[in-house]
Formats: sequence, structure tokens, C-alpha cells
Amino acid sequence: MYKIAMFPGDGVGVEVADQAVKLIQTIAKKFHLVFEIEKAPLGGASIDKFGAPITPEALTLAKNADAVFLGAVGGPKWDNVETSIRPEKALLQLRKTLEVFANLRPVHMFPALISKSPLKEEIVSGLDFLILRELIGGIYFGTPRGIKNLPGGGEEGVNTEVYTTPEVERIARKAFEFARRRRKKVTSVDKANVLESSQLWRKVVTQVHKEFSDVELQHRYVDDCAMQLIRNPKQFDVIVTTNLFGDILSDESAMLTGSIGMLPSASIGSHHALYEPVHGSAPDIAGQDLANPLASILSVAMMLEYSFGLHELAQSVEKAVQKVLDEGYRTQDIDQEGMKKVSCSKMGDLVAQRIQ
Ligand code: IPM
Ligand code: MN
Repeated sequence: MYKIAMFPGDGVGVEVADQAVKLIQTIAKKFHLVFEIEKAPLGGASIDKFGAPITPEALTLAKNADAVFLGAVGGPKWDNVETSIRPEKALLQLRKTLEVFANLRPVHMFPALISKSPLKEEIVSGLDFLILRELIGGIYFGTPRGIKNLPGGGEEGVNTEVYTTPEVERIARKAFEFARRRRKKVTSVDKANVLESSQLWRKVVTQVHKEFSDVELQHRYVDDCAMQLIRNPKQFDVIVTTNLFGDILSDESAMLTGSIGMLPSASIGSHHALYEPVHGSAPDIAGQDLANPLASILSVAMMLEYSFGLHELAQSVEKAVQKVLDEGYRTQDIDQEGMKKVSCSKMGDLVAQRIQ
């Protein structure tokens, strides 16, 4: 039996999480597996119900599960709440508490969607790389942080980018391990020409590389990497980078594949794992059954793979997604002339029906 903690969150998170549940239940039935799914509010939904974006009960639920699924958090309704209880805090606290330091964001170009990419076909066809984002350190969590009044008037906002040797070592090691199972190339991305934290990052990654001499290591500055992702993204296999740079580069990379609605993620630590679509709560289309559930569905595939070791089932989910796309079904974000436009729930049904 597999225990899953399910946090649909806010906005389209609720709709896409429903499709994830539908898929899991279909798999349970077809393959005689038992998944116990327990749901709880998170983010804005938790603020509305309990006055806080995450509760101790939610954290306990997550810690006791074999895997955690999260839809998305946030929305205009909570934009003006005090910083300390913003919906996003729930996400950051969950990641930190579960110690899921390695965030995997695979960037995969589905052949059926090539013409949705803003880039030319020859640049993106066959695209397949992995962004490994450090998730529980760096400027997201560094101290000192805050906003304070200055004596002479005005205010000062402060955040701190900080990385320690062990933090860089463990994410670097993961990057080389993943590269070993892929095309054996790691690109480490930093800003070592300006930041000391990046100089340490580069030094430690270079040191860890000595244990993985069969893997090629390249260092790039983040500005250069942002450019290379547009110029020639197929040069990348595994990109390993800091929390903030990884946040930015993964949105850029998602767009290469046509829509951010397609990008899944897995966040992995030594004891826990958290699965989320990379897209946010998309308040503009929330509640209308318009969202693309494929990032969530592909996140379930990652859960089957990384948390439950069900490799074949994970692959059959990916194949089902590919099939549905090849058959011409599209949610509005990836729709094109001549294709069959479907709702979020219909897309969820179609994928579930095609699981074999
Ligand atoms: C992401 C999101 C989050 C992040 C926000 C919502 C806190 O953008 O998962 O990429 O910055 O990590
Ligand atoms: Mn982001």
C-alpha cells in the first residue's frame, strides 16, 4: 500500500490535482494496487480555513506519507496578506520540512507539440534535458533577510544568498548520478564572476566531479546559460544550479517545449519526496476546467518512478500522454488549428483511459 498526501492548494491546483487523483485511482483499479490518498488544504485555502498557509497537521500528514503531491498555491485573494503568512510560504516550508533538496525538472519536447514552441523546429526537436535545482537553500532561505526602516527615511530590503560545502556536495552528487543514467554531461550554472557563494559552488562541484570522471562537467555563468537555452538547448543533458537560478531557468526551459502547462517536477531528499507541476495557480483561468493537467499527470509518473519504483507504470503514463497528444487532443494552452480542443477534466479522462 502506498500512502499519498494530496494538497490541491489554490486556483487551477484544485482542478489538476483532481486529474492526478483520477489517474492514480485508474492505475489502482487496473493493476490491483492500493493507494491511500489523504487530502488537506494548503496555501490560500489553508489561510481561509485555519488562518495560516500551512498547519502542523498538514506537515505531519506530509511527513507520514510515502509521497506528497501538491497542485499550486497562491492567488490575488491573498496577495495583500502579511509576508509571513503568504500562500507561497506553505510551499517553502513544506519543501524545507521534508528536506527535499533536489528539484528535478525534466524538459522534454513532445513531437506533437513542436509547432507550439516559439523556437524553430530544428532547435527544439528531440529536446530532452534535466534541470536539477537546489531547493532548500540559497537566497530563498538565507539570513539576514527582511525590510527595515532607515534612520534617514526610506527602507532597506535585504536577502542573503548563502551556500555551504555540504549543501553543494549533495546536489552536485545527485547531478552526476542522474547524468550517469543519461548522456553523461553536467552543466553547473552559477555567477562565479561576481558572487562568492557561486565561487564556492563552483569549487565544490569541481571537487565532487573527481568521483565521477566518466561524466563530463562544464561550468557556465547563468546569463550565458539563459542565452544558450535559446541558442542551442540541445547541448544540455543535466543542468545543476542554485535555487533562484533554477527557478528562473526552469520557466525559460518550459517555454521551449511550448507551454509551462507541460512541465512536471519531483523534489527529492533522503527521506521524503514531493511532486508538483511547475506551473502556478493561474488565477485567470481557475475554476473553468481550462487548465492543462498534463504537468500534474507527468508528476504522477515521476512519483510512480521515484517514490514507488514502478518503472513500467511510470512509462505507461508517459506513453499515454504522448498518445493523447498524437491523437490531436489539446487543452487551450497548447491548442492549434485542426486539433481537438478539450477541457482539463476531459484531458484527464483521455489519459486515464489509455493507461495500459
Ligand atoms: C516554483 C514557484 C515557487 C518558487 C514559488 C511559488 C514560491 O515559482 O516552484 O518554481 O519560486 O520556488
Ligand atoms: Mn518558479
